[in-house]
Amino acid sequence: MPAATNPMRVDHAVEVLISQTQIATRIRSLAAEIASQYPHAGDGMTIVSVLAGSIIFLGDLVRSLPMRLRIGLVTVSSYAGAATTPMPPKLTWSSLANVAGRDVLIVDDILDTGGTLRLVQAAVRDAGARSVRTTVLLRKPGKAPASVTADFVGFDIDDVFVVGYGLDYDGLYRNLPYIGVLPPREREGGAT
Ligand code: IMP
Ligand code: MG
Repeated sequence: MPAATNPMRVDHAVEVLISQTQIATRIRSLAAEIASQYPHAGDGMTIVSVLAGSIIFLGDLVRSLPMRLRIGLVTVSSYAGAATTPMPPKLTWSSLANVAGRDVLIVDDILDTGGTLRLVQAAVRDAGARSVRTTVLLRKPGKAPASVTADFVGFDIDDVFVVGYGLDYDGLYRNLPYIGVLPPREREGGAT
């Protein structure tokens, strides 16, 4: 049965935007760009990756990077809710990332409004990193303020809600091997 008509498949309603092959090809060229900008010896690079959306991108990217590197993981939690006063997003170091004096590459899934990256970039700078650069797999151009940028971008996409390859809707779809667009009707009750 074709995927499009099988409701048991997680991707039954997701339209492919960037295929698995396109992602693999782009990650190899992105890794080459990144590798040319970092020292390969000594402490090499220190990656600070933002959970959970970046996990698949991180896994593929680091396996294409040839130099010495360490990986730290961070979580950005936001407390939003109609009944409570919104709290500013908070950063938690989930695994030890000693970034003082290091050349840091922040890895995230997508640059959207820029709130997440602004916070992580500032935290890494404040922790005494020698250099701070950022890579994202996806960017929605024109949404983030000019002060929040990514140095290495996989793909620019339109302002649509995407899932797959680590990106989720309500915790689902992270396991799709491609980037897909989730139609609005699926976000209003179809997917729970
Ligand atoms: P920001 O708006 O740049 O702070 O993005 C915040 C986070 O929202 C990203 O790291 C993603 O995890 C998530 N996000 C933004 N756009 C999308 C999307 O289209 N699909 C799924 N998650 C998204
Ligand atoms: Mg995220």
